[in-house]
Amino acid sequence: RMRVRRILEADEAILGTHVKVNGWVRTVRDQKQFAFINVNDGSNVTGIQIVVPSEKLQGYAELMKQLSTGCSVAVLGTVVESPGKGQKYEIRADDVILLGGADASFPLQKKRHGLEFLRTIAHLRPRTNSIGAAMRVRSAMAQAIHAFFAQRDFVYLHTPILTSSDCEGAGEMFRVTSLLPEGVKGSELPLKDDKSGEVEFKKDFFGKSSFLTVSGQLGGEVYASALTDIYTFGPTFRAENSNTTRHLAEFWMIEPEMAFVDLSDVMENAEAMIKYVLQHLRSECGSDLEFFDQYVQKGLLEKLDLCLREPFGRISYTDAIEELNKAVKEKNIKFEFGAPVWGSDLQTEHERYLAEKLFQKPVFVYDYPSEIKAFYMKFNDHDDGRTVSATDLLVPGIGELIGGSAREHRLEVLKAKMKDFGLDEAAYWWYLDLRRYGTVKHGGYGLGFERFVQFCTGMENIRDVIPFPRYPGQCEF
Ligand code: 4AD
Ligand code: MG
Repeated sequence: RMRVRRILEADEAILGTHVKVNGWVRTVRDQKQFAFINVNDGSNVTGIQIVVPSEKLQGYAELMKQLSTGCSVAVLGTVVESPGKGQKYEIRADDVILLGGADASFPLQKKRHGLEFLRTIAHLRPRTNSIGAAMRVRSAMAQAIHAFFAQRDFVYLHTPILTSSDCEGAGEMFRVTSLLPEGVKGSELPLKDDKSGEVEFKKDFFGKSSFLTVSGQLGGEVYASALTDIYTFGPTFRAENSNTTRHLAEFWMIEPEMAFVDLSDVMENAEAMIKYVLQHLRSECGSDLEFFDQYVQKGLLEKLDLCLREPFGRISYTDAIEELNKAVKEKNIKFEFGAPVWGSDLQTEHERYLAEKLFQKPVFVYDYPSEIKAFYMKFNDHDDGRTVSATDLLVPGIGELIGGSAREHRLEVLKAKMKDFGLDEAAYWWYLDLRRYGTVKHGGYGLGFERFVQFCTGMENIRDVIPFPRYPGQCEF
């Protein structure tokens, strides 16, 4: 009896059995007596070698004329041990059925293509080894993240994508054009807040400006203030100048929010989560990680193992500034922006120095000056509000992977802070209510999922670890 198998199932358990395999042809070599076809169904980077004996197969010559890189095929045959190098098992074909042809214009001919070129054919690039492997690893990471939080009894919360609040206050929101067409019912509703007097404003779908969310945190705080531990895992959007190898206009973020915790609990959770995911990858994605280690980032496995083994570093912002100045003065390190002064934001080069040179492993920088961080962060009690209970996790090769904090949970302190930040209290009435009714210490963090995938695969550009990247000038596919 014939069973359809995925290529990843080819091992000794099905040795000698008769199978059917579907996939896409990567290469064809016709050597008269035999043809060798490499077929891949997205199981792994190796695919499987199909050996087609010319004598046995009816219509062999005709088939060879039609088969080429990019075709889809169904193969019927027997799984046998491979005498050749490079694979343990192969399939002796009884029949090869061409499902869908591909002519010589198929852009992924047998050679290594540049990743930049591949972005121009984002609809075909999943058929390459690097993108295929990146997406398998990405999927495994997402599943491990859910497993980690499930194990700790966190509720998976779905926060909205359409919102009217700018959580980070950085003014990087995509505005949603949400006008109702003329005459549509509901468009004539009288609106409360209509100082502008603009006609279009009157017809706005929501009755106020709306945007794509930059973060699910504020909604996360609402639910942590009832369910204790929640996390979000969804798309977020930023209209910042994202022409770098670490920024996307649309990226996925994991945002746990926990009640009854302080900053050290936030850091503990983040470190445990990252290690859980790495452990999962080491046991489940071995062959893909080896591929990345060999072809994309030498030393990747060693880097991941070290990250698993070692406790993450911890350093206060104030000490980090001191170290960066020491680096310039005593170690002759050159930064493009020079040594940072206390109170300024760390540049990427500074962050990378801390993670790559000083600690040589992931490091939490904590207690940042309040002026350079978001309005919701909790003032530290120990230094008259010069710093907030905030942390960034910096990792080698990437820089900032996580931003998190304890949240200001004291009503009066938060109100004063919002005033300093020029925020309108009225717009945050519901957020302030959390501090009015049963307020508790709480905190959380946001982990940029694509940066994490970059870290685990060694892929250099963030645009190559998301199926369809969005960045300035790119919204096709
Ligand atoms: O540091 P950020 O802005 O923090 C927040 O949004 C908080 N509300 C999170 C929280 O406490 N719940 O963003 C968090 C992380 C960054 O550390 C980075 O990894 C990632 O999100 N990130 C981006 N990733 C890709 N492209 C971009 N444009 C990104 N902006 C931020
Ligand atoms: Mg940040």
